[in-house]
Amino acid sequence: MFYRSIPQFLHWISIFIVLSQFWSFVFRPRPPPPPHGRWTFDPDHHANVHTLSQEQCDIAFPELYHSPKESVKLRGNRRIMPRELEIAPGRCMMRLLIYDRELFIIDDGSPEKCYVKNGNERERILGTLSQISLALATAPPSDPLPDIEFSITLDDLPRRSKLHGSFWAYTRKDGPAYDDVWLMPNYAYWSWNYTKAPSWQSIRRSIADTEQVTGWGAKHNKLVWRGKPKMADLRGDLLAMSAGKSWSDVKGVVINEHRDSSDLLTLEEFCGYRYTVQTEGTSYSGRLKYLQLCRSMLISHPLEWQEFHTHLMTAEGEKPNFVETSPDWANLDAIMEFYTTNPDVGEWIAGNAWELFHKRYLTSAAVTCYWRRLITSWASVQGFTPMLYVDERGNKWEGRGKRKMRGEPFAAFAANWPAKPERLP
Ligand SMILES: *[C@@H]1O[C@H](CO)[C@@H](O)[C@H](O)[C@H]1NC(C)=O
Repeated sequence: MFYRSIPQFLHWISIFIVLSQFWSFVFRPRPPPPPHGRWTFDPDHHANVHTLSQEQCDIAFPELYHSPKESVKLRGNRRIMPRELEIAPGRCMMRLLIYDRELFIIDDGSPEKCYVKNGNERERILGTLSQISLALATAPPSDPLPDIEFSITLDDLPRRSKLHGSFWAYTRKDGPAYDDVWLMPNYAYWSWNYTKAPSWQSIRRSIADTEQVTGWGAKHNKLVWRGKPKMADLRGDLLAMSAGKSWSDVKGVVINEHRDSSDLLTLEEFCGYRYTVQTEGTSYSGRLKYLQLCRSMLISHPLEWQEFHTHLMTAEGEKPNFVETSPDWANLDAIMEFYTTNPDVGEWIAGNAWELFHKRYLTSAAVTCYWRRLITSWASVQGFTPMLYVDERGNKWEGRGKRKMRGEPFAAFAANWPAKPERLP
């Protein structure tokens, strides 16, 4: 017998195993190094990381900062001065200060008097201010954060709040009337519980989990839409254009009357359709960003209202991420006929949108990078040095005598406001 004993046999076997392990460790396939040895954004690990440096933000989201860049350009040589920031009570606006990486409320604008009955003032205010506060608190030490003073509107129609002067808003249009309206992310990137999106990160995760189970093949080969029909506008036209079509799951619902109607869909259920459709309402539609979290093909009429990320939407070129109809939906039937019979094309467009929005530009990491860029962009055209402390007559505190803070820290505001919740709309 070649081996004299079983122990000797085992001895040689174990040496062989150890050597082969070592061999495969030394010659294991390695991932290619990132280009130029740079840090790269990996959505699986970084989507909810708020502490990216400015350099990492630039690497991760190179196309994100279009709107602040445009706003700075539109200012030209006009510096922002304090009188532009004044707000009137009851107009859904707030005047804010960032001082030494802390957010202060200079003027809360009497939100309980806000004449627009948005119905969710508290969600809008706390959602927006919390995002700013988070962006300040998570800025790494390498990134200086300037002191700025600015105003925001919580109204979906920004010019209803203030006709002149500069401020930040959820939406704007092109044109001179909106040149001084700077785009900020929507409050729903914090929370919009009413639409069953308790936090941005949780709805994004929930949609990702659903997508993993569903897959394109299992999705309904139809166009889905639910909403309040207002006849004779584009929502009414959409209902008319899709009535009786085999590709249509388009339905009007009156939300208040049919709160429990089976026609109401959750955001995850919208993603269960291959084709979704966007309609503007009074202005931008809060639903767009959620539809863009789905791996579905988005169809939209030409949009008039911009949001901080909508410049990334393209229906043309090498990587279209949605399909644009004519303004009156006249070609909707032809579009749906084409895509329902050529689902591979729709899957490709849905995949482009998924990579661009779900996995990159609509992550919490991107939103926080955007807030910090908005702050530094505003600072670059600010024509004054914001003050936190004033003397007893409201003038600049010169370092002697009594001083008081001009504003209330957001920390105190969030913990105590509103004193009388029942007075809020
Ligand atoms: C958020 O919405 C859910 C229902 O979608 C509800 O059960 C829950 O109470 C809401 N949370 C708050 C804090 O209102």
